[in-house]
Amino acid sequence: MNYMGANEIRESYLKFFEGKEHLRLPSFSLVPKNDKSLLLINAGMAPLKPYFTGVEEPPRKRITTCQKCIRTGDIENVGKTSRHGTFFEMLGNFSFGDYFKEEIIPWAWEFVTEVLKISKDKLYVTIYLEDDEAFEIWTKKTNVDPSRIFRLGKDDNFWEIGVGPCGPCTEIHFDRGSGKINSVEEFIKAADEDRVVEFWNLVFTQFDKNEQGNYNRLSSPNIDTGMGLERMATIMQGVNNIFEIDTVKSILNKACEVTNTEYNKDSNKDVSLRIITDHVKSVTIMICDGVQPSNEGRGYVLRRLLRRAARHGRLLGVNGVFLNKIVDTVVENYGAAYPELKEKQDYIKKIITLEEERFNETIDAGMEILKGYIAQIEASGNKILSGNKAFKLYDTYGFPFELTEEILEEKGMAIDVEGFNKEMKEQRERARAARGENTYMGSDESPVNKIDASINTVFDGYSNLKLDSKVLMLADEKELKDEMSAGEEGFLVTEVTPFYAEMGGQVGDAGFIYGDNFKIEVKNCKKNVGGKIYHIIKVLEGKVKVNTIATLEVERDRRNNICKNHTATHMLHEALRIVLGEHVHQSGSYVDDERLRFDFTHFTTLTSEELEKVEVLVNEKVMEVYQVVTDVMSIDEAKNSGAVALFDDKYNEEVRVVSIGEFSKELCGGTHIKNSGQIGLFKIISESGVAAGIRRIEALTGFNAIKFVENKNTVLKEAASALKCNEKDVLRKITAQALEVKDKEKEISELKAKLLQGAENDIINNSKDVKGVQVVTASLKDIDANGLRDLADKVRNKLNVGVVVLGSVAGDKVNLVAMATKSALEKGIHCGKIIKEVAAITGGGGGGRPDMAQAGGKDASKLSDALSKSYEIVETLVK
Ligand code: ALA
Repeated sequence: MNYMGANEIRESYLKFFEGKEHLRLPSFSLVPKNDKSLLLINAGMAPLKPYFTGVEEPPRKRITTCQKCIRTGDIENVGKTSRHGTFFEMLGNFSFGDYFKEEIIPWAWEFVTEVLKISKDKLYVTIYLEDDEAFEIWTKKTNVDPSRIFRLGKDDNFWEIGVGPCGPCTEIHFDRGSGKINSVEEFIKAADEDRVVEFWNLVFTQFDKNEQGNYNRLSSPNIDTGMGLERMATIMQGVNNIFEIDTVKSILNKACEVTNTEYNKDSNKDVSLRIITDHVKSVTIMICDGVQPSNEGRGYVLRRLLRRAARHGRLLGVNGVFLNKIVDTVVENYGAAYPELKEKQDYIKKIITLEEERFNETIDAGMEILKGYIAQIEASGNKILSGNKAFKLYDTYGFPFELTEEILEEKGMAIDVEGFNKEMKEQRERARAARGENTYMGSDESPVNKIDASINTVFDGYSNLKLDSKVLMLADEKELKDEMSAGEEGFLVTEVTPFYAEMGGQVGDAGFIYGDNFKIEVKNCKKNVGGKIYHIIKVLEGKVKVNTIATLEVERDRRNNICKNHTATHMLHEALRIVLGEHVHQSGSYVDDERLRFDFTHFTTLTSEELEKVEVLVNEKVMEVYQVVTDVMSIDEAKNSGAVALFDDKYNEEVRVVSIGEFSKELCGGTHIKNSGQIGLFKIISESGVAAGIRRIEALTGFNAIKFVENKNTVLKEAASALKCNEKDVLRKITAQALEVKDKEKEISELKAKLLQGAENDIINNSKDVKGVQVVTASLKDIDANGLRDLADKVRNKLNVGVVVLGSVAGDKVNLVAMATKSALEKGIHCGKIIKEVAAITGGGGGGRPDMAQAGGKDASKLSDALSKSYEIVETLVK
């Protein structure tokens, strides 16, 4: 056995199976398509489920892949052990009703002993208890020593995942120890102690397990194998730790460098370094596959990994962002296998930086909240933070649990972990309920997901909107039907259809299907999990039967508008790349008959100049009346021709390339107009942010764009008529009027002030002597608190020994103020006390100093009663 790098092992595996007539497919995206049971792809076979269940025809009966996988079930152990990681690559070869045990067993042995050249004295094989056939093949068709084969039960050697295809398996194990293992008991013990490690699982997918738990034999058995690349690499590189293999080691080294930490010096720091290494690798690949940090689903998985890594950076003493500095090393090591990493490198780094910055803010905000909690705990003489608060800190504020724990520990406090776990469990249940139940191989049980494998509706609607075809299947929500009558709703499948099925952001077509004595409305057209086309229908008239010939007709205007919007989306994409730069990539789109929505990678709000440039550029190209041409070619030819492909899309070997003159060239399965001029007018109606680093533009085309402009025009017309001026004068007139209003407001307040002048004299005339103190009160109108204070001050200045108490009703509020002269204070007057009682009568409150106090009240009708109370209060105060 010779040392092999991880990249070398991957390549030799895929080449080996290509040599056995397998089609090598690139890894599928980590984001599952049409599979509600999974957040992220977790096995080589996961994206191939439709081929196993037979709902979809594979491009070849033999396929080999190296699949990117994420498993986070064991996240707590990552870093702490040498074996756990969240991202891994599964090498696999698959047979869909083609070869079976007779072939795969000798091939696997050949690969392991002749290509990898692992000594057969280091290998053990396990088979399923009852699988005599596998035993026969192992012993007759390979040179494995029969005493190295052990039989194990269902837990170990029968592979299944929920319901669906499953079967017994045989596994190949490597022995790190010495001395022969002679019995199954010894073998189990050695496996428990990690002396033997399983590295290749060969599943004989012979059964289809149904909901009742019955295993029905499949008519054509399949093969599904999985070999963990990193685990294999530990064997080929003579190390016992995934962090020691070449590719991962270089990331770990980089982590040491950027955190300025030495490995193998302090076991706690080693844990942090391994966590950073593993998590940066995972998040780089997840972001590349289109996952965005968020608070739910896979976005939350990503956020958790990113924050956990950032947090361990803090533990190593790093301040500020650092994770992005490790991304380049991940790309260097994985870019050959996953070229999309190189294309998206800058984008990945930006997303990581943004999220890390946000996390640092979170930490600071969380610290404040935690400080508050700690103060409360201290005040209560308690030492425990409630599970509810700890969970809130974790869940709502994104503050890491361990950090809370650690900080509390420093204060001699702890978390009510049981309470926290209870909250966590409840939240998980809520999340599970929101995700929906796991059903038939991840799809739902609707009859549309079980369209017969022999049915393969052909889409013939790129330029054709009407054709005749045979009805092959009818169904309602629950079951297949032979016929359906007026009023019934459900699904209809034909041999050929001109209806476009919802895909690639373009909505499905609507229209009608009719025959001699029936008429059906098509509300939408979709593809099922296996990619088979079905129409969502309502029978309007008569009765339709399976096997009838029907006319299918797409609603022409609607389709036309969709085409305009779709072509405009491609033009917008190109225009954005020209105006903003090559970092712009499509991250999502939605096209219907009314508008288009385009999400793309970019980091700042677009300025109005940029938006205008983009809009003008698209309209220029509209007016160039470019031909829109579609060519079918191989994926390689397409990429070489410079066509823009979407990163996380699964492409067949043959692809359609849509070119709009020389302006744009994109891989696309959607429907388009024939000439850019048909767009007529392109109008951007909004620009906004949807997530960190993702912007969204909404736009209109054709008559929808014209209508939008017309509506604005109408508003302008109406404004001009209301302002009694020409349209071109509207702005000038509004500006002039605004200035005028401002001047008038100023004038009014000056007039009010004038009116108050001299008021103090009238007020004083109303004074009353109480035990040698002159008491002045007055009830006024429409004077705010400031005006009232000024007036009271003027009155006070004219008194010798006196108190003034003024009230004013302004709107639905009562303002009150009291002021006293110095000499009155000596006699025992206290304005704060006066105002408090007076205000209380008007249903308000307030207070203040002995010489000045203010208050607000509510009940204006009580104001004069309240003011007259002043005299009594003064009487009680005077010594
Ligand atoms: N599907 C099998 C596994 O995941 C090969 O182990």
